[in-house]
Amino acid sequence: MIIFNKKSDLKVYLQNIKAYKRSVGFVPTMGALHNGHLSLIKKAKKNNDIVIVSIFVNPTQFDKKEDLLKYPKTLENDKIVLESADCDVLFYPSVKEIYNENVVSETFDFDGLEHQMEGKFRNGHFNGVGTIVKTLFEIIEPDRAYFGQKDFQQLQIIKKMVNKHRINVKIKGCAIFREEDGLAMSSRNTRLTPEQREAAPFIYKTLKRARIKFGTENADTITKWVENEFKNHPLFTLEYFTIADEKSLETIQNKDSSKKYRAFIAVFAEDIRLIDNIRLNNL
Ligand code: PAF
Repeated sequence: MIIFNKKSDLKVYLQNIKAYKRSVGFVPTMGALHNGHLSLIKKAKKNNDIVIVSIFVNPTQFDKKEDLLKYPKTLENDKIVLESADCDVLFYPSVKEIYNENVVSETFDFDGLEHQMEGKFRNGHFNGVGTIVKTLFEIIEPDRAYFGQKDFQQLQIIKKMVNKHRINVKIKGCAIFREEDGLAMSSRNTRLTPEQREAAPFIYKTLKRARIKFGTENADTITKWVENEFKNHPLFTLEYFTIADEKSLETIQNKDSSKKYRAFIAVFAEDIRLIDNIRLNNL
């Protein structure tokens, strides 16, 4: 695996790759790699000649400084994981390399997707995500880029950005990778205490029960039921639960049999924020 810290060096390498018409798959990450990331890398390996993984803890997408500071950083282990996954290139730039002295986001219009769910609770988050992903796409110009569906809103927003800005990359959304007990894999899981970790499958269990209820109950009743489930939970505080249209991400009032719906949840275990989602109907 070749490691690049400088965009200029990576670009020179890529000129050569592209001259030979070799396809490039890209997996952007913030490090602290887990099996969910590995599944994205595996997919990318299957469908591209070269796979590039970036590790960059992007400051502009964190609305809380403590969250940025506490974000797990495990570079040496990440390198081992990437070598074992046969990753071809690691791009590991500094904040200065990406932002120079100007650590601010571009402002995007994602046609309202940015105002739903995460957008209501994480001020400026999607401008930060859009800024870094667009910057990385401009440097790497990948043929395909891979994102997990755990961050489903992020995935839809990136598809929107690529479309609106006519960026020539195929966005591949990949299924959520779960621990055996159902907890969605996340770099933040490593921060859970053993007690919180043991209790955390409750989040996915609640989503699965909401999916069953969706067959017979309306969205409002299910939302109230979930809120009640978390009301007296000793370890978790519900930030939001909502049932939304997969495309517009707007919370639904009534079901329409021609639309796809998902339930989305964000939960705090002390200061650790966990998110998850589940498809509710199949068309
Ligand atoms: O999903 C993530 O890890 C990040 O939001 C991403 C896409 C790497 C941008 O920093």
